[in-house]
Amino acid sequence: MSKFDPNTAKPCLTGRGVTKVFGMGDKKTVAVDHVDFNFREGEFVSIVGESGSGKTTLSKMLLGLINVTEGEIDFMGQPRDISSGKKRKEYWKGIQAIFQDPFASYNTFYKIDAVLLDCLKMTGKGHLPMEKKVELMTEACSFVNLRFAELTNKYPFELSGGQRQRLMIARIFLLRPKILLADEPTSMIDACSRSTILDMLQKLREEINMTIIFITHDIGLAYYVSDTVYIMEHGKFVEYGPAEECILHPKAAYTQRLINDVPKIYEEWDLSTV
Ligand SMILES: Nc1ncnc2c1ncn2[C@@H]1O[C@H](COP(=O)(O)OP(=O)(O)OP(=O)(O)O)[C@@H](O)[C@H]1O
Ligand SMILES: [Mg+2]
Repeated sequence: MSKFDPNTAKPCLTGRGVTKVFGMGDKKTVAVDHVDFNFREGEFVSIVGESGSGKTTLSKMLLGLINVTEGEIDFMGQPRDISSGKKRKEYWKGIQAIFQDPFASYNTFYKIDAVLLDCLKMTGKGHLPMEKKVELMTEACSFVNLRFAELTNKYPFELSGGQRQRLMIARIFLLRPKILLADEPTSMIDACSRSTILDMLQKLREEINMTIIFITHDIGLAYYVSDTVYIMEHGKFVEYGPAEECILHPKAAYTQRLINDVPKIYEEWDLSTV
């Protein structure tokens, strides 16, 4: 399935001691506590942890949406510099995200063609003739099994949750970032759409050697889709490594507990005991 080779893949997003503290004094919350990571080109990484373990806070720091309290982040082998609006925009050409709630991801007043045209503009294709732009948007839509001709003139809220999430992936197809951060992108859609979305992410990764950082509370799902997993508990990585190793031979008690909470990773469902 994966062409990712941990021995040859170059690092693309690396962190040392990355920490986020919210509030002060008695109200202080250490949401992310000195985490180290090394995400590599073409790698499918899952960050797994329970609610409140710090996954979204970490992803916001990775995206540069909130400041890092402490620690360093390198992007493509260089210290990440997002100190100005211009530099941040440049950084976002390399890292994009899709979020939990496909209903909240769009500007309500933007029609779908405007959303996609915006992506073309962002990648320097704004000057192309309309014909060519329609061709590119049609291709992006068909990549995610949507028909562009049926979408023009519609608003994102006129689509189903699964369709909206696929439209998000069509955007990524056009933007071609080095890294895609997906924070629980499938938790609000049905199981069938979920596997379609994951298949599309895998396909996209193979096409453009994109790194995918997939955030989930579902360790079973992480096992099936990822090369590498990072297990997060109370803001710390308690265990990380190849998905097989971490999940089939967990060392941390917390990982074991997460696995026990999804009782049937490798067993057949035994309905007689239910
Ligand atoms: N803006 C904020 N101000 C104060 N505390 C915050 C803020 N954002 C998050 N936290 C706290 O940081 C901790 C981690 O929250 P975070 O949203 O990162 O968890 P999560 O792993 O994404 O959880 P979930 O699986 O429920 O999405 C929680 O204790 C949360 O209450
Ligand atoms: Mg979250």
